[in-house]
Amino acid sequence: MTLRVRRNIDEMPGYVPGEQPQESGWIKLNTNENPYPPSPHVVDAICRAARGPLNVYPDALATPFREAAADVLQVDPDWILPANGSDENLTIIIRTMCDPGDVTAFPWPTYVLYESLAQIQDCRTERLYLEADGTWDEAQAQRLREQARVFFVPRPNSPTGTVWSPEALSRLVPERGLLVLDEAYADFMAGPTGIGLLKTSEFSERLVITRTLSKSYSLAGLRFGFSIAAPAITRQMRKVKDSYNCDAIAIAAATAAIQDQDWMRASREKILATRRRLVEALPAAGFRVTPGEANFVWTQHESGAHREICERLRQHRILLRYMRFSGVGPQGGVLDGIRITVGTDEQVDALLDVIGACV
Ligand SMILES: Cc1ncc(COP(=O)(O)O)c(C=O)c1O
Repeated sequence: MTLRVRRNIDEMPGYVPGEQPQESGWIKLNTNENPYPPSPHVVDAICRAARGPLNVYPDALATPFREAAADVLQVDPDWILPANGSDENLTIIIRTMCDPGDVTAFPWPTYVLYESLAQIQDCRTERLYLEADGTWDEAQAQRLREQARVFFVPRPNSPTGTVWSPEALSRLVPERGLLVLDEAYADFMAGPTGIGLLKTSEFSERLVITRTLSKSYSLAGLRFGFSIAAPAITRQMRKVKDSYNCDAIAIAAATAAIQDQDWMRASREKILATRRRLVEALPAAGFRVTPGEANFVWTQHESGAHREICERLRQHRILLRYMRFSGVGPQGGVLDGIRITVGTDEQVDALLDVIGACV
């Protein structure tokens, strides 16, 4: 007997997440985690939640979190839809919006998961090709906005850290679908986030913003993210999510985390200071850094030997993320480089101590 799975699942390669070594002793600068611990209030909230009751299901809508996030962002709680990491939000959005065969679009290169989610949903994928300076061809953008049911745009982009202006984003809003602004790294940006667009732009009813607590709130190990969108959209998304998609401990922890804005801002300031040092130091070792506004830097070495450099650093127990994108541009070129997560000063010093010898 032959096992038959859906054709598109059989054909897709599947998303490969970054390496997560389970033993200690690594300097881990490969998956954009925050090197600092979460707020101490988070640990207290987890201990309280662990005392229960855990025998009953959690609040299906994660109401305490929605109220706390709404307060921070100055929106109504009905605009907030929590999920088990922002990746789950992206899944909910595509399942809400796309039939098999519909077009899902995204800039390229970008967060590779968008392509995998589209393949799972059996959607057609369309890439908006980015030039080295982050610009795109307006005629192609116009074609995609006519076709796309969902247009995923991370702001800042990963891996380049590029931040597109609201005016540029307005030219990507699908005519019959949603623009999804993935703001996983928005707390590290210099300028305003997309929340203003939700409140004031003429396309606010066609916009979903996704956020995560994995990065600026130091909670990647917990799994918590949320969408912000008009209630007409969150109402539809609620029908698609798992009934109890966030567990009681995660709800308590995420609520405490978002309520401690001072802690988040202090950790962000440390990361931004270390990012400046890293960006200034890399050119001396032959690296060109793409200007970006996230808790990572995208860099290319004059030798082009990016994979080898990462392998050599591995010998020093330092993990960076080697990334290779094919199909870059209409001619199908290849782009590769190294994405370095901004760690603590000590971690970045350890990297800078050896990187010159690894190029
Ligand atoms: C652009 C982007 N969106 C979303 C995520 C996932 O966030 P979460 O940990 O909340 O699932 C990541 C994680 O690296 C990311 O880079």
